[in-house]
Amino acid sequence: SDSEKSLSSKYFYDAIGSELFERITETEDYYPTNCEFDVFETHKEEIVKKLPESFSLIELGAGDGRKTKVLLKECIKQKRSFEYLPIDISESAIKGLTENIQDEFSEMEIHGVVGEYIEGLNWVSENRDGAKVILFLGSNIGNFNRTQSIVFLRIIWSLLKDGDILFIGADLKKDIDVLLHAYNDKENITSQFNLNILSRINSELGGEFDISKFQHFGTYNAKKGAMESYLLSTVEQDVYIKHLQKSFHFKEWEPIHMEYSYKYSHRELEFLAKETGYNLTDKFVDSKKYFANYIFKAVKERP
Ligand code: AVJ
Repeated sequence: SDSEKSLSSKYFYDAIGSELFERITETEDYYPTNCEFDVFETHKEEIVKKLPESFSLIELGAGDGRKTKVLLKECIKQKRSFEYLPIDISESAIKGLTENIQDEFSEMEIHGVVGEYIEGLNWVSENRDGAKVILFLGSNIGNFNRTQSIVFLRIIWSLLKDGDILFIGADLKKDIDVLLHAYNDKENITSQFNLNILSRINSELGGEFDISKFQHFGTYNAKKGAMESYLLSTVEQDVYIKHLQKSFHFKEWEPIHMEYSYKYSHRELEFLAKETGYNLTDKFVDSKKYFANYIFKAVKERP
């Protein structure tokens, strides 16, 4: 109902949306997942060497945990003692992930948490002491703008002890063509992923969206340094949402803003660490230099 219509990207992830996101990560065009895989495969030994002997391994927005398994295996190999606590807003994702991990790693302690980041983090802080390692992978941070990411990393910092680790994955700034293809994949899965929010409004809120009258548009905002996605109403129309007892008017080609995916430079990541109370101790980059994983170590005591 705002003059500039928008929907929060956190609503993408119902059961169908989580599934569609997994399919995006398997397309040829969407590179971030493969690049992060490459980082893990190449540097897993070094990465896990940096982790303490015993810790709670908390993952924010774990999804299907496909990449994380590489690190989990390495943690077991290097005889770390840890419990894996994946947090995800999607109940179906957590269910699938915990079942899958239990099957594959029968000896591993796992406790899935269904909820938003802060909710889940608060639950973990209240229920687990000891060292923490937080995984914030896949450029999930990209959904936050620069200010929101500073606020969010400070909240995480406030829940950490000196020396605890935030292991973060960020998508790097790069040639715009590569970005445009990644967010407008040939198989149109990204389009289905966006349109699924409207289907979700239809089934959960009694909405009457005709999804054939909306079109996905992914574009790069050079000023913000972010990919952005929109759904455009291809015709002038009114859409009724029963549970709100309200109708929404769309002008021809009016956009609904759906998502930001902010892209980072190394400088920006260094700044982010310094600004929010961490020591940036290690950087890992994939062979194409598209994606970066950083170890941020929480600094609580200043000399
Ligand atoms: C899950 C937020 C990292 O921004 O790249 C993929 C979601 N959106 N294609 C991203 C997404 C469109 C993804 N994140």
